[in-house]
Amino acid sequence: MRLAVIFPAAGKSERFGERDKLSEDLGGRPLLMRTIDLFAKRDEMIFGVVAAPPDTFDQFKFRYGDGLALQGVTCVPGGRVDRWETVKNALDVIPDDCTHIAVHDAARPCTPPELISHVLRAAEHLPAVVPAMRIASTLKRVGEETEVDESDDPIAAILGDADTHKLKTSTVIETVDRTGLVEVQTPQVFHADVLRRAYAQDDLSSTDDASLIERLGDVPVHVVPGDPRNIKITTPADIPLARAILGVRGPQGRAIHKRF
Ligand code: C5P
Repeated sequence: MRLAVIFPAAGKSERFGERDKLSEDLGGRPLLMRTIDLFAKRDEMIFGVVAAPPDTFDQFKFRYGDGLALQGVTCVPGGRVDRWETVKNALDVIPDDCTHIAVHDAARPCTPPELISHVLRAAEHLPAVVPAMRIASTLKRVGEETEVDESDDPIAAILGDADTHKLKTSTVIETVDRTGLVEVQTPQVFHADVLRRAYAQDDLSSTDDASLIERLGDVPVHVVPGDPRNIKITTPADIPLARAILGVRGPQGRAIHKRF
């Protein structure tokens, strides 16, 4: 296997707030580099590319470029809006002699190495492999979120903290049958020619790469068991969870020059 790995890292991270989530400190190493490390130390990877936010590409290169270069990883500007545009840009720089291409969210730094081994082993034999978890909870489709004002305290309104009494709710439309439903993770690994063919289609609208393979219609996508530790960092509350999974501490108590 001659593996290229694409790390989409161009998302706006709106649910994370003001901070740069890729720079969050995970045991003295930025979150992004933790994700890269998962693959860079593996013999299968011969090429790596990070697709970075296009509007702040120079800053991104200034911050991470040297560290990435040391790992043999290059960077390209990603897409402004859609994830598929990001992956497409990265796909364009992958050398032709790569036999397989993995796509792994930059925001998944906790992927267990054994999960990666398992997906790669399966991809030796299968054209498209994705890890996924069975849905354990009951699923419901809901309508638009609305705010219910539960405050009848006029003083709170005058003091301006009436917002704290606003309750956000949605109404249930239906309960969805969860039979056969799985929650998909990354890394998703493909035979290189299959992924290239998928990205040559006209309609690239998608939220993961496997769905473009599904759209081809002639290549099966295989699912292998995912792992609950393989979380996608989405909100600030995920950071302590990631530290717990990785068994590392936050920056508190560490010398200032060793923090991020
Ligand atoms: O938005 P979502 O949570 O699905 O993002 C998953 C991954 O895709 C993240 O690592 C994010 O940076 C990346 N992404 C991207 N380009 C976009 C949107 C998301 O690289 N336009």
